[in-house]
Amino acid sequence: MNEHANYIVLLGPPGSGKGTQAVLLAKRLGIPHVSTGDLFRMHLKTETPLGIMAAKYVQKGELVPDEITISMLNERLQEEDCDNGVVLDGYPRTLVQALALESYLDSADEELTMVAYLSVPNEELVQRLSGRWMSQSGRVYHMVYNPPKIAGIDDEDGSPLYQREDDKVETVLHRLEVYHEQTSPLIEHFREEGKLLEINGVGEIDEINDAIYEALQ
Ligand code: AP5
Ligand code: MG
Repeated sequence: MNEHANYIVLLGPPGSGKGTQAVLLAKRLGIPHVSTGDLFRMHLKTETPLGIMAAKYVQKGELVPDEITISMLNERLQEEDCDNGVVLDGYPRTLVQALALESYLDSADEELTMVAYLSVPNEELVQRLSGRWMSQSGRVYHMVYNPPKIAGIDDEDGSPLYQREDDKVETVLHRLEVYHEQTSPLIEHFREEGKLLEINGVGEIDEINDAIYEALQ
């Protein structure tokens, strides 16, 4: 692994901008963006055994069991393009996953560089998710806040955009509960480890990205 490898985690509730920021940050740093949500959706779309198993959790807004998520992610981290680091989006999401990530990096003689926690009030999260449109490759748009150049079409590869099934209001509200119960304790965990950068996730997308990027320099 590389001496200057950056292992960055984007932490925050559904709709806080993890995917939006991860794509931009990964591009600036020249390292891959790895989203466990995108990985599950890819498996779901191609109906792999993992996708079929994960579907029942993802569609209900529940977390996929740790064991499955951890082994999927560790496999992804072993791919060569992750040797210089990675921007993790939506992982870890439980304390068990956080400890698994730390021990994975430790055994590779690496460590987490930073955990950027995007804080956004609940009311705004619901609005953001109900207007979200996604591209297959993980780019994220919003009808009002971040529209594509041509409605319904990805700016970069011209493919059609889609809305996520778990962005229905009831499922969004459940995802928020799951976040507060199972994921928000990680804020304190990473704060205690001195890794946490708390970022105000409300504001201009580019300014939020600059704040994360500058904290890394
Ligand atoms: P995942 O895909 O990770 O979903 P999530 O955590 O619920 O987060 P979102 O992707 O909904 O939001 P985001 O923070 O990425 O925001 P975005 O940038 O899109 O996970 C989905 C499911 O997979 C989970 O429910 C679970 O079942 C499973 N799963 C995934 N990881 C797992 C794990 N580790 N363990 C177990 N299960 C797991 O932005 C949202 C909207 O806001 C967009 O429209 C965007 O354009 C807009 N926006 C972004 N920034 C701004 C801004 N600054 N101002 C205004 N609008 C903005
Ligand atoms: Mg996302």
